[in-house]
Amino acid sequence: MAVKNAMTADFLRSAYGGESMAHMRYLIWGHVAAKEGMPNIGRLFEAIAYAEYAHADNHFRVLGDEKGDHTVAAGAVFGVGKTSENLQGAIDGELHEINQMYPVYLETAKFQDEKGAKIAFHYALEAEKIHAKLFQEAQHYAKEEKDMPIEEIYICPVCGFTHVGHPPDKCPVCGVDKNKFKVF
Ligand SMILES: [Fe+2]
Ligand SMILES: [Fe+2]
Repeated sequence: MAVKNAMTADFLRSAYGGESMAHMRYLIWGHVAAKEGMPNIGRLFEAIAYAEYAHADNHFRVLGDEKGDHTVAAGAVFGVGKTSENLQGAIDGELHEINQMYPVYLETAKFQDEKGAKIAFHYALEAEKIHAKLFQEAQHYAKEEKDMPIEEIYICPVCGFTHVGHPPDKCPVCGVDKNKFKVF
């Protein structure tokens, strides 16, 4: 039995839905960026899609062996345009998670003393802050039809922590060793 409280369980399902869609959307937008001649921005989308997968995975696992069908309502951004426009969609989605969704979900999990959910929401919130910054940086280049000059991108498979360039020895969010990071 993983989750005791209905509201935390609702938020976990919604966050799982939101992260699952973000994962897919970023893969789609990544292909668009590569086709537009911006392979590094394509790679950034692909790497961050993996971080969103890690978040979805955490939320799903915290829900444990929950049975039954659920209709899952979750915030979702739609639209395929130019990469600079797709990046705006990505920025909007991340900012929603940072400023609205995850702080509220996290406070609820704390109030309801839901340990697993607290960790999962905390991990996601910290990663989304980095994602918003990286997408904003990428958009500066995409608006000028240029690719973003970036090195390897490292993703922590545990918490979704995202880092461009030489990685720290341990994940600053969850503490996992850097040799576990996935490189894009
Ligand atoms: Fe994100
Ligand atoms: Fe981590």
